[in-house]
Amino acid sequence: MKIRDLQINILGIESSCDETAAAIVVNGREIRSSVVASQLATHAKYGGVVPELASREHLRAIVPVVRQTLQEADFELEDLNAVAVTAGPGLVGSLLVGVTYAKALCFARDLPLIAVNHVEGHIHSVLLEHSEIPFPALALVVSGGHTHLFEIRALGEYRLLGKTRDDAAGEAYDKVAKLLGYGYPGGPVIDRLAPFGNPQGVRFSLAKMKGNPLDFSFSGLKTAVLRWTEQHDVADEIHRRKQMKHASFDEWLAATPQPTLDMLASFQHTVIEELLRRATNSAEEIGAESVIVAGGVACNAGLRRQAARQEGLTFYFPSAGLSTDNAAMIAAAAFPKYQRKDFAGFDLKAQASLMLA
Ligand code: KG4
Ligand code: ZN
Repeated sequence: MKIRDLQINILGIESSCDETAAAIVVNGREIRSSVVASQLATHAKYGGVVPELASREHLRAIVPVVRQTLQEADFELEDLNAVAVTAGPGLVGSLLVGVTYAKALCFARDLPLIAVNHVEGHIHSVLLEHSEIPFPALALVVSGGHTHLFEIRALGEYRLLGKTRDDAAGEAYDKVAKLLGYGYPGGPVIDRLAPFGNPQGVRFSLAKMKGNPLDFSFSGLKTAVLRWTEQHDVADEIHRRKQMKHASFDEWLAATPQPTLDMLASFQHTVIEELLRRATNSAEEIGAESVIVAGGVACNAGLRRQAARQEGLTFYFPSAGLSTDNAAMIAAAAFPKYQRKDFAGFDLKAQASLMLA
């Protein structure tokens, strides 16, 4: 008897942005191995992801990453039941590397191919560890590319309730960090600096939405931070920080005067208010008591602390390593599709703006 006759082993592949990742997940739950090759070092000096460089790095990394994933799981290709790949949304040149590789592997080994939406993958980074979450549930997907609220009526049934009209929440963190000289990505450093400042120090106003009140907007907040830098004497400190390469957290902290710490704490406070206010309103609207928070911004310690204080709602976050882009979430999201025999053809295309609902 072969191992793939006893359990369902799915190889997941993720290359939608700046991480080349592969993972093997057994029966949609058990992560046997998960490898993420980050391109952070390549993009950091440009203050953001450079699409052309990302595709080239994916091309370099994809074969070694899959090989390492198989090795760490102690698997051969013949142990696999299916290959799942992120088909979108994301950078089209990056997606193409994963999609083409997955198609070739399925063709060569006669394996079913499963197409996964990256956003659905993020949702499964939480469902992977919490199969007990009752439906309907609310999902708040917050990353560098997405800020979406979905109703999950049942496994695989989504309804879009709201989304950002301009910047994603993580993008707002990254742009504010870049403006203030902290390098890329901006979320983690601002999150760690925020507790050293006064969150009431700068009064940023919350976005007023015309139309759908569950939509988000972060561009006004970003502009308010820009105005703040113009009205305060911060040009020298920003210039100094821009010269700092590979700084440790203590070095960033030492290079950040109190007024800037207060502004960053206020920025973080406002982003969290925006996210939680809409999550709470949406949950009430659909009668959900559980909120799944996924995507890179789900790492945010301030968001986690504040979410734990919301009455009547239980928030679920991914564990460490599953918040930011990875392939375990892609393999996990593929498992129900495998059970439904929802397979993709070899005409599968990378779709930069693929929608979940
Ligand atoms: O999910 P992810 O790895 O990639 C996308 O699909 O975009 O998310 C990366 C984003 C970046 O914008 C990064 O700044 C943000 O997540 N991020 C955070 C934190 N850690 C990562 N934002 C706020 N607080 C954090 N602790
Ligand atoms: Zn992502």
